[in-house]
Amino acid sequence: MEFFSGKTKVFCVIGDPIEHSLSPVMHNAAFKHLKLDAIYVAFNVKKEMLEDAVRGMRGFGICGMNVTMPHKTAIINYLDEIDSVAKFVGAVNTVLNTNGKLVGFNTDGIGALKALKENGVEPRSKKFLLLGAGGAGRAIAFQLAKEAGELRILNRDGSKAKLLADALQRKFNKKIVGGRLSPSVLKKWLKDVNVLINATSVGMHPYNSQTLVERNMLRPELTVMDIVYNPIETRLLKDARSVGAKVINGIEMLVFQGSASFEIWWNQPAPISVMREAIMKKLRRRESKP
Ligand code: ATR
Repeated sequence: MEFFSGKTKVFCVIGDPIEHSLSPVMHNAAFKHLKLDAIYVAFNVKKEMLEDAVRGMRGFGICGMNVTMPHKTAIINYLDEIDSVAKFVGAVNTVLNTNGKLVGFNTDGIGALKALKENGVEPRSKKFLLLGAGGAGRAIAFQLAKEAGELRILNRDGSKAKLLADALQRKFNKKIVGGRLSPSVLKKWLKDVNVLINATSVGMHPYNSQTLVERNMLRPELTVMDIVYNPIETRLLKDARSVGAKVINGIEMLVFQGSASFEIWWNQPAPISVMREAIMKKLRRRESKP
């Protein structure tokens, strides 16, 4: 929209820090492309102001909200309803405001699965090894438990991975195993899997050289997906590409979790390529700055 009016719908993301969020650029590009009379803004909300911020959403009639660190779990206390996936995961990243009723969703797992499928990976017949049982890891594990052929979960704190695997196994009546991340278990569990997903923060800027998986453990038949998107190509993905494995970078999950939020708010398909291009343009501009 060229001009905003009294009818313009407002969407936002809240978090702290928030200034580097790519969500405004992604969603505003989508709104503009579809000629929707709407705007998406970012608010820095401190922990102790979260309840006021949610009240503000009701008061101002903000139509939809994304939620990021550190509010994803705490916000559950202030919403009217939590969808069953977000409840299981224990984290909300999307809020829909329907006539004052606030419902919380989690689109991280759906986004990850969509990223896989859109990149040619059909999960049903595949064995997955997921690294990480934090917020993002739990969300991805939930969708994989539902859709994948087989799932193994490793986490630095092994008890989290085991608890998650047990809960998913009970829920989906499928064999799902969890354990503590160590080089020896990783090597053993990685041997016959088709897809490896890093859902930990390892490799994120400024620790670009870090990886949980040594290059010599990687094989050309593997697909390797990383949820870290800064840098776009993490050390793990670089190593995977260099051995001939298929790689899916963190921008894909970012775009598809965003598109899933868009679809919850607008009930119409999101313009994926427009959203991806807006993010890439912003990142290229950031990278070219000294
Ligand atoms: P997010 O919401 O982005 O998933 P999180 O809930 O804080 O963030 O989860 C971070 C994940 O990265 C966790 O799986 C964490 O492992 P622990 O549960 O053991 O803390 C993992 N992680 C972070 N730093 C790590 C490191 N140096 N080695 C291995 N795993 C790490």
